Amino acid sequence: MKIVHTIAELRACLAPFKHPAFVPTMGNLHEGHLALVRQAKPQGDVTVASIFVNRLQFLPHEDFDTYPRTWDSDCKKLQAAGCDLLFAPNEQELYPEPQTYLVQPPAALADILEGHFRPGFFVGVCTVVMKLLACVQPRAAVFGKKDYQQLMVIRRMVRQFALPIEIVAGETTRAPDGLALSSRNGYLSASERAEAVQLSLALKAMATALQAGATDIAALEQQAMQSLAARGWQPDYLAVRRRSDLQTPAPGDALVLLGAARLGSTRLIDNLELTPDQGATKPS
Ligand code: PAF
Repeated sequence: MKIVHTIAELRACLAPFKHPAFVPTMGNLHEGHLALVRQAKPQGDVTVASIFVNRLQFLPHEDFDTYPRTWDSDCKKLQAAGCDLLFAPNEQELYPEPQTYLVQPPAALADILEGHFRPGFFVGVCTVVMKLLACVQPRAAVFGKKDYQQLMVIRRMVRQFALPIEIVAGETTRAPDGLALSSRNGYLSASERAEAVQLSLALKAMATALQAGATDIAALEQQAMQSLAARGWQPDYLAVRRRSDLQTPAPGDALVLLGAARLGSTRLIDNLELTPDQGATKPS
């Protein structure tokens, strides 16, 4: 695997290729990221990953400074997963001047759920992803469904700007107990780690209630939040939304359940897609 730190080197390395497949990351890689890299491989003639911890998408009180930087192990893992080229710019390279041109996603999609609790998050994500896509110019880019709203925001950005890039969704990789893999799981203490699967179980319980005919969505969301709170969590939201645009659903809509909650000082997110008949499915 070749490693480059500048846009010029990246472009020189990519010159012989026509169809790069790209996986952007912030490093601290786990099996979920590596599954995205393996998924990217057949999507192009060269597989590119990036590692860049993007200051723009962190709020001032969030974990930008302490976000785990695990360079050596990240490189080994990417190499083993079949990544051909790693682009790892520093801040000076990607933001050589203050980034005053920003990509502003629509409020209806980006100021709800994650965007409500992390104002400006999706401006930061869209801006860096736009810039990384401009650097790599991939044929396809793979984003995980674990960050469900992020995937949707980026898909629409690429569509509205008519970028000739296929956005490919990667399934969420889970630990044997069902916890969605996340770089932030590393912050959990042993007892928190044992508890952490309860977020995914809360979403499953909501799915079961919907399947059994529950129609009062507000009450269902409230009850799920209360159950988690009773176990010591601080839930931000547990929400039943329409899959197509993350708005409040109408009867018959395909649904997705999304949750975000803090366990101790660690904020976890997860989601679960349902079929139009409201039965829990394997994500498509
Ligand atoms: O999902 C992430 O790791 C980040 O939000 C991304 C897409 C790499 C942009 O910084």
